[in-house]
Amino acid sequence: MKILLTGGTGQVGREIIRRAGRRPLFEVVAPGRDQLELTQRASVERAVQQYAPDLVINAGAYTAVDRAEDEPVLAHTINGEAPGWLGSACAAASVPVIHFSTDYVYAGDKSGAYLETDPTAPLGVYGASKLQGERALLASGADSLILRVSWVFAGHGGNFVKTMLRLGAERDELRVVADQRGGPTYAGHIAEAALDLAARYESPRRLPWGIYHYAGAPLTSWHEFAQTILQRAFEKQLIRRVPTVQAISTRDYPTRSPRPGNSEMDCSRAESLLGLQRPDWRLGLEETLEELRV
Ligand SMILES: NC(=O)c1ccc[n+]([C@@H]2O[C@H](COP(=O)([O-])OP(=O)(O)OC[C@H]3O[C@@H](n4cnc5c(N)ncnc54)[C@H](OP(=O)(O)O)[C@@H]3O)[C@@H](O)[C@H]2O)c1
Repeated sequence: MKILLTGGTGQVGREIIRRAGRRPLFEVVAPGRDQLELTQRASVERAVQQYAPDLVINAGAYTAVDRAEDEPVLAHTINGEAPGWLGSACAAASVPVIHFSTDYVYAGDKSGAYLETDPTAPLGVYGASKLQGERALLASGADSLILRVSWVFAGHGGNFVKTMLRLGAERDELRVVADQRGGPTYAGHIAEAALDLAARYESPRRLPWGIYHYAGAPLTSWHEFAQTILQRAFEKQLIRRVPTVQAISTRDYPTRSPRPGNSEMDCSRAESLLGLQRPDWRLGLEETLEELRV
């Protein structure tokens, strides 16, 4: 099965390439920006025609949440328009698309876990652009499956785990937000989920298309997540001591783009319709720290 992958250099994309390499079923082509530039409709269409894939995985995205406030056109083009262009090209070629979205499509003011049917209300440009992309892809006519993921981390790329390890090695005390809750999600788990879906699509050439939540468990806060990262990093001798982690509130840590307070996403739809078990971020953290150790 030939998969055309966008964003092959990103957190999720790299894990897809790495893990597909262990499964003989898949051949992954992951062109760089010189071959597949998501800001250019013609480039997106040409790539779909040229590579003639059986399935497309769109892991490419503009993910700089704060910078998006200053570059809204670029964010909306890459996250909002490109999925629609990809979808139209794929619809014309009868090729399905697996796409990723985010908990940032929600305002984060619900008490309790979000369901896929809950109203969306993004707080910033990034979330709005990702929501636009979901809608564009769904309207494109392509068979598409959208996984809304949250708090993504991996052993490579820029992410919270790596930031905590860097700061934890430099400082005796860190201040981390304790009033935002969500499910950290390991990019390796997202990649495995996407490849499992691709394998299931192989036969009978269909999936229950639509939007699904796929987020790590158990529910945590950035503060608790930081404590676990630093404790496990210390036990694995990645840092010399565990710094104090002071719990602060979102008010004490203003960001250019506001973040949802509650990012909890109910994942039972993906479990029951796609057979995707909710991944345990603590296992993903172990893999990440092992990768960083060598
Ligand atoms: N990171 C998170 O915490 C998070 C949370 C929720 C949802 N998500 C979603 O999960 C998916 C994967 O995210 P990620 O963390 O793996 O992203 P990432 O590490 O930031 O990687 C983004 C990828 O997109 C590519 N890209 C960016 N602009 C492009 C353009 N104009 N043309 C072609 N490629 C371009 C990048 O290529 P270059 O290397 O060339 O820049 C890179 O390969 C995205 O849909 C994201 O919105 C992420």
